[in-house]
Amino acid sequence: MNGTEQRDDDSRAERVSDTFRKLYGGSPDGVWAAPGRVNLIGEHTDYNDGFALPMALPQTTLLAARARTDGRLRLHSAQGDGRITDLAVAELAPGALQGWTGYPAGVVWALGEAGHPVGGADLHFDSTVPTGAGLSSSAALECAVAVAYDELYGLGLAGPELARTAQCAENGFAGVPCGIMDQMASVCCTAEAALHLDARTPEDHAQVPFDLRGQGLRLLVIDTRVTHDLGDGAYAALRAGCERAAALLGLPALRDLPTGELARALEALPVELAPLVRHVVTENARVTDAVSRLREGNAAALGPILTEGHASLRDDYRVSCAETDLAVSAALSAGALGARMTGGGFGGSVIALVADGREGVVAESVTVAFGSAGHRLPRILEVTPAAGARRLAPAPGTR
Ligand code: GLA
Repeated sequence: MNGTEQRDDDSRAERVSDTFRKLYGGSPDGVWAAPGRVNLIGEHTDYNDGFALPMALPQTTLLAARARTDGRLRLHSAQGDGRITDLAVAELAPGALQGWTGYPAGVVWALGEAGHPVGGADLHFDSTVPTGAGLSSSAALECAVAVAYDELYGLGLAGPELARTAQCAENGFAGVPCGIMDQMASVCCTAEAALHLDARTPEDHAQVPFDLRGQGLRLLVIDTRVTHDLGDGAYAALRAGCERAAALLGLPALRDLPTGELARALEALPVELAPLVRHVVTENARVTDAVSRLREGNAAALGPILTEGHASLRDDYRVSCAETDLAVSAALSAGALGARMTGGGFGGSVIALVADGREGVVAESVTVAFGSAGHRLPRILEVTPAAGARRLAPAPGTR
């Protein structure tokens, strides 16, 4: 982390602490941060026990938190409606909460379900992770609570356990049947690296150096502003399709289908399942390929892998939409080395890998293309691989 980033973190931590004091009286026990993510490659593979390569974003959810001894859980967000939600931890139940409060409350519920002795807390959130953009703002909320509770209640859980708890909150409490990628990225990523995730054994993840700037590259995130909602059934249907295909093939998960057996498997499968399987198997191979290129120090070689990944999501998995397809094609026409939708799909964001100096032209071309097509104009950010969830204050080692 450079000096400017450190100062930004410090001043944001002070700001959330000040607001905490105004809201709840007295100081927080600490301030924690958890980032959003983009996935470089490996989409819709996590719930097939496969591979992914996400990186954390500089955009984070900050949480000022203080443990309570009376079993009450109080929640407030700078991005909310101004009200404090006041709940009893003992009465938390799946499905009872609508909106953003379900994610943090779900983590407290999931910790309790897993047998951890957790009680209440006063929590104040302030996030710079765009919501509804496919950048895992909900995972950032969950993971901020997971790391804060881990310290407040002395649980001593490892990163992948915290990620599992956050996933469990989303699956079991908020009712979204997601895999573990977003939560693993938010907890376990490190700065200047992408996270090589094996969703079957998240404990075995590896950090893969991703020195964008050092290799003369930039990464743009193009938020198409088409809001996606993974709770609407399409994601669950895709997941169920993959599970049915694995069962028909007699495999524990699609991850267990070797590339060499793909052609035979495709012939044996019902016509509606074959493209899903083709996507998952080829996508897992793209992750392996991308990791090799990064380990060779050739990040520019990710470009064509990203673009192939997009074609597979568009044509086989069918989770892209007109806006994401246009962002990809406009970025490529303007000279991007590669581009793809990232995250669950049905809108959300596109990433574009560009050579240093081309980022302005690519951003401008995508914006013009959206204007000409009559779409809402996209929001475009440049991002670098950032650190995963952590305590900001008191600074680690100072108490
Ligand atoms: C969403 C889910 C993840 C993953 C992606 C698709 O982001 O939360 O678990 O399945 O979609 O790769």
